[in-house]
Amino acid sequence: MIVLGIETSCDETAAAVVTDGGDRRILADRVLSQLDKHRPYGGVVPEIAARAHLEALDGLITDALAEAGLGFAELDGVAFTGGPGLIGGVIVGTMTAKAIALVHRLPLVAVNHLEGHALTARLTDDVSFPYLLLLVSGGHCQLLIVEGVGRYVRLGTTIDDAAGEAFDKSAKLLGLGYPGGPLIEQAARSGDAARFDLPRPMKGRAGCDMSFSGLKTALRQAVDRLTQNGASLAPRDAADLAAALQAAIGDTLIDRTANAIALFRSRHADGDTLVVAGGVAANTALRRRLAALAAASGMAFVAPPIALCTDNAAMIGWAGLERLRLGLTDDLAFAPRPRWPLDPRAGPAIGAGVKA
Ligand code: KG4
Ligand code: ZN
Repeated sequence: MIVLGIETSCDETAAAVVTDGGDRRILADRVLSQLDKHRPYGGVVPEIAARAHLEALDGLITDALAEAGLGFAELDGVAFTGGPGLIGGVIVGTMTAKAIALVHRLPLVAVNHLEGHALTARLTDDVSFPYLLLLVSGGHCQLLIVEGVGRYVRLGTTIDDAAGEAFDKSAKLLGLGYPGGPLIEQAARSGDAARFDLPRPMKGRAGCDMSFSGLKTALRQAVDRLTQNGASLAPRDAADLAAALQAAIGDTLIDRTANAIALFRSRHADGDTLVVAGGVAANTALRRRLAALAAASGMAFVAPPIALCTDNAAMIGWAGLERLRLGLTDDLAFAPRPRWPLDPRAGPAIGAGVKA
């Protein structure tokens, strides 16, 4: 099967062509970051994002097909992010995919963006079900059992900010810029994580829920103390705080994931793989710590290549391909879903700002 994937849910416009035949599964993978457009505002501006998707998407699809050496007629389906995400961008991707499906008489597959992240490890490493997934991105932070396509059991979630959000907001406080994750990681390399004692919310408690909003407050207080005399934050201080923050987020994620491994094992004696996905999975320190945790627990560990952790369309094409193989298609009446939990039975978590 050959599927075109379209991703427009946040600030990357992306188109890709993937296949399940042969060694090379990703035939084309085009990602256009809108970072430069949003940077002056310190975060993603939804209206700017939607307009930029509209401008760029058609060209990216043309380029992706050219790179794959294929025409629309050779596709088996069109997959697009149907949610969750910023509604303007999701509408652009949805309408584009519908138009292609209608004109070229192709099956249409609406993909949950989170399922795209969740199934990436099957695209890259053929991981078999069930597996334990730590999904950490800018908008979501969850521990899930992936039992099959469309079958997720949520073991825990953040009750306030997502880990990526904590990186982004903290980077702003430290004056490092946007997006925060890569900049914090870079600054942390030369920092001393032990100099500042940041909290580890929820660590040591039962269950797999997480919390990160307290970290941001603690960081703000530390910055306020250091800049009391009106001075700006010294690079040394910013590096040490970045290292402390990365360590604190890592500690919380490792502690919660350790609990999730125990739960996963109690439910699936045959399950033996820990997978990490989402933008924060691009963090090298976190990958290293998760690999060590998995090894100590006798689990295999899979982290997709960094370019497939942050938003891309190959993951959407792949999730679409997996759905298509099972006959799970959508019709032209599909309505974009700005909120779309992977495990609908889990219900919303307590706390403000939780998106799914
Ligand atoms: O999955 P993603 O590209 O978009 C969403 O679906 O949210 O994730 C973006 C998030 C941002 O919060 C960004 O700061 C974070 O992933 N991120 C990182 C790193 N690279 C991206 N966080 C920590 N370390 C990184 N190297
Ligand atoms: Zn994402």
